[in-house]
Amino acid sequence: MANDGITRRGLIQAGGGIAATAALAGSTLAQTGGAPRVEGKPLPGGVKLPASPPQRKRPDSVGIAIVGLGGYALNQMMPRFKNAERAHIAAIVSGNPAKLKQVGDAYGVPADARYSYDRFDAIARDRRIDAVYVVLPTALHADWVVRAFAAGKHVLCEKPMALTSADCERMIAAGRRANCKLMLAYRSHFEPFNLEAMRLMKEKAVGTIRLLRTEQSYRMGPTTAAENWRVDGTLAGGGPLEDYGIYGLQSALYLTGEMPERISAEAFRPAGDPRFASIFAHVSSQWKFPSGAVAQLVTSYDSAGINMAEVRGTEGALIMDPATSYAGQKMRIEGRNAREFNPGDPDVQFARQLDHFADAIRDNKPIRTGGDMGLRDIRLIEAIYASAKAGRSVNLNPDGTMRR
Ligand SMILES: NC(=O)c1ccc[n+]([C@@H]2O[C@H](COP(=O)([O-])OP(=O)(O)OC[C@H]3O[C@@H](n4cnc5c(N)ncnc54)[C@H](OP(=O)(O)O)[C@@H]3O)[C@@H](O)[C@H]2O)c1
Repeated sequence: MANDGITRRGLIQAGGGIAATAALAGSTLAQTGGAPRVEGKPLPGGVKLPASPPQRKRPDSVGIAIVGLGGYALNQMMPRFKNAERAHIAAIVSGNPAKLKQVGDAYGVPADARYSYDRFDAIARDRRIDAVYVVLPTALHADWVVRAFAAGKHVLCEKPMALTSADCERMIAAGRRANCKLMLAYRSHFEPFNLEAMRLMKEKAVGTIRLLRTEQSYRMGPTTAAENWRVDGTLAGGGPLEDYGIYGLQSALYLTGEMPERISAEAFRPAGDPRFASIFAHVSSQWKFPSGAVAQLVTSYDSAGINMAEVRGTEGALIMDPATSYAGQKMRIEGRNAREFNPGDPDVQFARQLDHFADAIRDNKPIRTGGDMGLRDIRLIEAIYASAKAGRSVNLNPDGTMRR
């Protein structure tokens, strides 16, 4: 990409911390004058509350407290609890009292299981709550996950895990101290198309993997940090990479089954656009894997929509477009094993993720998307920003930490 000067200048202006994400967050902290705080927000648009509350299905169903009643919780996850076999909504936590009542009434959450952020720590004494689902803006994940563990609850945490690997390590350590489970809500690990793609790549359905390309982009409408936390670097880090590009990052890892050994990257933010006052407009990175395969990952908040992953091997190509959406996935192989795939309804990803978490808690089963995976991904994001900032490639250890 030809935007090097702007990219590096933007990063240099952001400050000289060890990780570019931390540096970027630091710059906006200075602008807003404080650490990120929880704040109640209005009911998002388009929310359809259930006509009758979903019922718990099993006596050993895991009771979950939903923390943050925003768009994803209300439009995607909470309505899908009715499809889960072993998890139910036991409590809700919000900074908006009117929304707490409206959502609590619709989902049949008892009045004394509706918590404000101020009263959150009282969940420790609430035996109806086995676990907490943190669906807050990214910069708030770490503190609220640590508080949930301090209350003795298991945690399901939304992606990305946190803004820095240091925060991820703090979250993992808190979980270990509490002897509680930590799961990252990486729904694609429970989605039939992506599971089938993982299986196909393990079987070498396209031969030996040589090239991989992922693109996660959309064009964000006019907005400012005051209106939308996704463009506030304090809450969102560098922006599209953490929010959307992380799906491409994940795909690159689970489709190749490898960790990159070298990354080079570019990140760009245009001057004078309020959407990109404290986050990047797009980020691109190139990875080299130990096998010799290379990957190109791009993500943007300012270009026409796409969500695709493509793997090109010695005998064919796997094309997923859309790759990791809520619905409508399409997948085909071209070449020697050419065919279209339709392995199941992507909608099951939400409930299966909840049931996987519940099984891990009740049956002490291993978690497919644990804290270590979240930490690994944030290390790679740090490496991407470090490369963009330095203007040269960075070498990585197998655990994703940067080699000095
Ligand atoms: N897995 C996926 O496919 C997927 C998709 C979308 C989002 N997510 C993740 O889910 C999380 C929430 O995203 P979202 O799209 O639901 O965001 P959102 O619609 O903006 O909702 C965020 C909610 O967090 C609470 N909140 C507390 N402090 C806040 C603050 N300072 N600024 C803004 N909100 C604050 C508010 O809930 P109250 O008003 O109830 O306090 C707010 O409604 C993020 O981690 C995101 O990455 C995941």
